[in-house]
Amino acid sequence: MPLEKLQGVKLPASADFHVHLRDGDMMDLVTPTIRQGGVNTVFVMPNLVPPITTVDRALEYKQRLQAIEPNVNYLMSLYLHEDVTPETIVEAKKRGITGVKSYPAGVTTNSSSGVVDYSVFYPVFEEMERQEMVLNLHGEAPSTGDVTVLSAEERFLPVLGQLHERFPKLRIILEHCTTAAAIEAVKKCGPTVAGTITAHHLSIIIDSWAGDPFCFCKPVAKTPADRDALLRAAVSGDPKFFFGSDSAPHPAASKRGGDRIAAGVFTQPYTTQVVIDSFEQACENGILKESDITPEILEGFLSKFGRQFYGIGEEKNEFITLVKKGENIANILQSEKLDVVPFRRGQETWTVSWSL
Ligand code: NCD
Ligand code: ZN
Repeated sequence: MPLEKLQGVKLPASADFHVHLRDGDMMDLVTPTIRQGGVNTVFVMPNLVPPITTVDRALEYKQRLQAIEPNVNYLMSLYLHEDVTPETIVEAKKRGITGVKSYPAGVTTNSSSGVVDYSVFYPVFEEMERQEMVLNLHGEAPSTGDVTVLSAEERFLPVLGQLHERFPKLRIILEHCTTAAAIEAVKKCGPTVAGTITAHHLSIIIDSWAGDPFCFCKPVAKTPADRDALLRAAVSGDPKFFFGSDSAPHPAASKRGGDRIAAGVFTQPYTTQVVIDSFEQACENGILKESDITPEILEGFLSKFGRQFYGIGEEKNEFITLVKKGENIANILQSEKLDVVPFRRGQETWTVSWSL
């Protein structure tokens, strides 16, 4: 085992800055698994049906989540939409909303109410900059003309540059970076711009999702060289890159059956573990060196840098300990109402235990 040195290592609890917890039966099923993944702070995505465009709905949603698992800090977001005005932003800040997520129209699950033209929202971004709120970008150009799922992220990057130039003090996150080009684009911007990296994109590539619905998500995983750039960014110690799992549960039936396959990879119960597994795999394959993976590097990527960027402290000083003792990822998570299949089902992983 390449990362034997991590046996028994104690780290501050992970913070996951991009999660889909859904609502109703799916919320009931997945929310209790957040801590199992070593996480006590989550940034919650607003792409419910209909999307969350008002502060009241975001706060009601937060209460539903808290009722299920009170020992998690839920950072809430609004869905960028014409209903979100500069006045909404002022209210959102006052009432404790953390960010605004923008989905380009039609690029991913539940994005049909998304953005067509960013300039329409400049007054909203101006107010967000003033209120020190975070703008979370789903960075894909819609698939029209010669844009495909493979080029969509790269084709979006000029928009990131333009927004940063126009709103240099606005904190912007390019969510779920999947390409070397995205990593470079984030690096080129000033310190107000960061990128999140998921757990699954640290291991999968195009071939992984071509034929396997449980590896299919948006943005899709790209080439081995792209994946390696993500791995290197995640262990670089550069605070511009931190963890956001993009765990996105879908009922097993919408992955396995039907005419269309839902986009989204579900990692919530094993998020920290899957990151460590990916680093381990990368060491085995000679992409990373064991000496790259220190407790300090893990702490930066999984916990510290994201909290710093969002300006939040460590919750209750909780810690997790990593142990590899032959635990296998569950094949399925089930309630009476529905079931969902975790990423890398059945495979061996690390175990996370909690302490103060
Ligand atoms: C997400 C979902 O299912 O809500 N799907 C995904 O493939 N990542 C939406 C998103 O974040 O793009
Ligand atoms: Zn997402």
